[in-house]
Amino acid sequence: MVRIQRGKLLAFCLCVMATVFLLITLQVVVELGKFEGKKFKNSHLKDGRAEMEAEPLHLRPFFKRGGLTLNRKRTLAADGFPIMLWWSPLTGENGRLGQCGADACFFTINRTYLHHHRTKAFLFYGTDFSIDSLPLPRKAHHDWALFHEESPKNNYKLFHQPVITLFNYTATFSRHSHLPLTTQYLEGTEVLTSLRYLVPLRSKNHLRKSLAPLVYVQSDCDPPSDRDTYVRELMTYIEVDSYGECLRNKPLPPRLSNPASMDTDGFYRILAQYKFILAFENAVCDDYITEKFWRPLKLGVVPVYYGSPNIADWLPSNRSAILVSAFSHPRELASYIRALDQDDRRYQAYIEWKLKGEISNQRLLTALRERKWGVQDVKQDSHIDAFECMVCSKVWDNIRLQEEGLPPKRWQADVTHLSCPEPTVFAFSPLAPRRRSLREMWIPSFQQSKKEARALRGFHCPLGSLCLLQLKETMTTIFVSISSPLDASGSICSVLTKEVNIWSLFSL
Ligand SMILES: *[C@@H]1O[C@H](CO)[C@@H](O)[C@H](O)[C@H]1NC(C)=O
Ligand SMILES: *[C@@H]1O[C@H](CO)[C@@H](O)[C@H](O)[C@H]1NC(C)=O
Ligand SMILES: *[C@@H]1O[C@H](CO)[C@@H](O)[C@H](O)[C@H]1NC(C)=O
Repeated sequence: MVRIQRGKLLAFCLCVMATVFLLITLQVVVELGKFEGKKFKNSHLKDGRAEMEAEPLHLRPFFKRGGLTLNRKRTLAADGFPIMLWWSPLTGENGRLGQCGADACFFTINRTYLHHHRTKAFLFYGTDFSIDSLPLPRKAHHDWALFHEESPKNNYKLFHQPVITLFNYTATFSRHSHLPLTTQYLEGTEVLTSLRYLVPLRSKNHLRKSLAPLVYVQSDCDPPSDRDTYVRELMTYIEVDSYGECLRNKPLPPRLSNPASMDTDGFYRILAQYKFILAFENAVCDDYITEKFWRPLKLGVVPVYYGSPNIADWLPSNRSAILVSAFSHPRELASYIRALDQDDRRYQAYIEWKLKGEISNQRLLTALRERKWGVQDVKQDSHIDAFECMVCSKVWDNIRLQEEGLPPKRWQADVTHLSCPEPTVFAFSPLAPRRRSLREMWIPSFQQSKKEARALRGFHCPLGSLCLLQLKETMTTIFVSISSPLDASGSICSVLTKEVNIWSLFSL
């Protein structure tokens, strides 16, 4: 009797399992159908993540295009130029013959060139790079190149070893990149040494009667660096004037209240009156340095900096900024700032490099001198032009080597090209609601991206099979991956790595 029931139970279980498997397969087929349909439509310049980045992009150099935009691209593309296919709508250019020194390449965003025999390189833009839509199968002669200059918070997937190593060439904010963009927010040395905005210390001391020693202006609140938690704590020890959306305690003059006026002369004049500016990046990654750091230096205000852990390598001189990382607690930082505020000689020591026009940091000087692109400079290439040409030249170098019967030079990016640790939160006061939102968003988002990155390369699925990659802790979602024809190196197993809600499978 008992045995019969057991038999029935077993049959029932088998039946349920078979049904579940069938449903999953069905769902996967449906998802794959959606994916195929989406593949070529997925071309918004910015995805959801990118839109969250509310910081001004005023410094993005406008496109300077020396090349010819072609209507009869097909003829020309077939004329012997390697094709560089942008797997992103970033440039918006359907076809352009770009001249890079002695070499020329055809640059396009037109995905019909995917299977063209002369397509040699795929150019990706970090912010819209998506694992769900890659130009697969990757052929042996398909070089992949990554351009990623925006905030690291815009696409976490790229930081993980399985993803960054997909690329042969990179242009990122890291000094280790093939085309380092570390100084992309700095026009040159002249703006640093310029005294145009400098307010003399005597006036600053006088202005202290109505102004706080520190100023904070931020409109992108609660980013992964958790800067607002730090500043909120700091504010309990020292006065901070905050004009932006985040922690605002002071209104801007109405004529400056528009976010577009952040980079106007009038706004600079307001900031220049302060002794210290809180220059906190939205993400903490080596070499990720934005205008938040350079602006105070331009204005003759001392930056109190939090962001790139190796920022000391980029200071104009060894006494030009106060590094938050040197203090164990906001309390200590506050008392240091208060001491400088009360001691003109000690404060002035941080401005001395500017007064003397002395930039002693050779690394910074070399980086500015050797970069092949300009910032807000019509006479120079933009960093996108420089990236395109870097790839074009490397592709041509290998074409020439092969023509001579020599092996091509191998290029591969590694994790140092984008090194961003998992976001962490500051642990001072009890959990504020905003900090909870950070906990709930950035950390899981980073962990999720790590799983997806692993799923992309870490699992080898037999061709055409269905892999259930990961069961999440909650048991409500699973990763489903469909294997595709393998890429040239045999390492990419999936075209589709998706989270599927288990319950949705039953609602088919
Ligand atoms: C893309 O290129 C193909 C041929 O290579 C052409 O027929 C098509 O019109 C192009 N698309 C656009 C939007 O220019
Ligand atoms: C800072 O640099 C100056 C010369 O530029 C040097 O004399 C001084 O010792 C340095 N100070 C520190 C603390 O490194
Ligand atoms: C580009 O990377 C792929 C995958 O790692 C590799 O197979 C290919 O040889 C690389 N190409 C060059 C030019 O290094």
